[in-house]
Amino acid sequence: MKLLVTGGAGYVGSVCAARLLENGHDVTVVDDLSTGHADAVPPGSTFVQADIAEAAGDLLADGYDGVLHFAAKSLVGESMQDPHKYWQGNVLTSLRLLEAVREHGTPRLVFSSTAATYGEPDTVPIPETAPARPTNTYGATKLAIDHAISSYATAHGLGAVSLRYFNVAGAHGAFGERHTVETHLIPIVLQVALGQREQVQMYGDDWPTEDGTCVRDYIHVTDLADAHLLALDNARPGEHRIYNLGNGTGFSVQQVIETCRAVTGHPIPAAVAPRRAGDPATLVAASDRAREELSWKPKLADLSVIVHDAWEFTRARQQG
Ligand code: UFG
Repeated sequence: MKLLVTGGAGYVGSVCAARLLENGHDVTVVDDLSTGHADAVPPGSTFVQADIAEAAGDLLADGYDGVLHFAAKSLVGESMQDPHKYWQGNVLTSLRLLEAVREHGTPRLVFSSTAATYGEPDTVPIPETAPARPTNTYGATKLAIDHAISSYATAHGLGAVSLRYFNVAGAHGAFGERHTVETHLIPIVLQVALGQREQVQMYGDDWPTEDGTCVRDYIHVTDLADAHLLALDNARPGEHRIYNLGNGTGFSVQQVIETCRAVTGHPIPAAVAPRRAGDPATLVAASDRAREELSWKPKLADLSVIVHDAWEFTRARQQG
């Protein structure tokens, strides 16, 4: 298929673009490089450096079979301090993209949604039928886009799939996580192992979980990317489907640090710090719908494998 990948210079976008190319698709990446990196765009794709809101119309006029929309602002803390950046950067940009999709009759859209749309869950693991009550602006903007996509599917026959990611980690060969400002747990812990930080701070040890630290569902970025390929194949005109993507197993912050110690052989000092605003205690996915309807089967569900691949990527980058 001829595909447009927005945000293909970012972490998940670059891995998905690489997997699409490996599977024989024709890929154009559009990214303004506000948070992405030009050298993360996989070789073999066509790269357009542009603001998606400005460029989507002209690009889609060329006739595409689908759009995979990753480009977004995605820091929960920042979204609470600067909501305009998120409503503008996520919602307005996506509306412009949707209009371009409608105008040029692009048949398929796969959207990068998030578990942050659910907020504090009533039941764990979380199914797609759980109420969406985001506790932060980031999640609220992604939910708003999900609603807009549903409207476009109903009114204009778009075949759309939203994938709600839980905690994405790991790397796909040369493509991995490299945020300028790092806030995610596994990359931060690996920075300690590399000697770039003295210790990791555990945000709270008094959560209602077994060891008192927050529990998350970590999913390998390659497994996540493969769900996008299946979503493209399963998009149906006029339908907007929503799927959770996670492994269905929760690991506490302490367990993640322990796994990183085992994988890296580094003692990784850790200290307890105050809770971080907006963090739910436990987020674990029920992904039965993706398994049943997309035939999605995560192959790299072992947390040690996820951490190992992130560690290899991090070390390779440090060695230059
Ligand atoms: N954490 C620490 N210390 C750190 C960094 C994180 O204790 O230095 C804790 C957090 O408090 C949280 C857990 O580690 O409990 C995971 O935090 P991350 O920042 O790695 O990830 P989040 O769970 O906050 O968010 C991620 C994505 C969101 C997505 C969510 C869904 O960034 O977009 O997973 O589960 F919505």
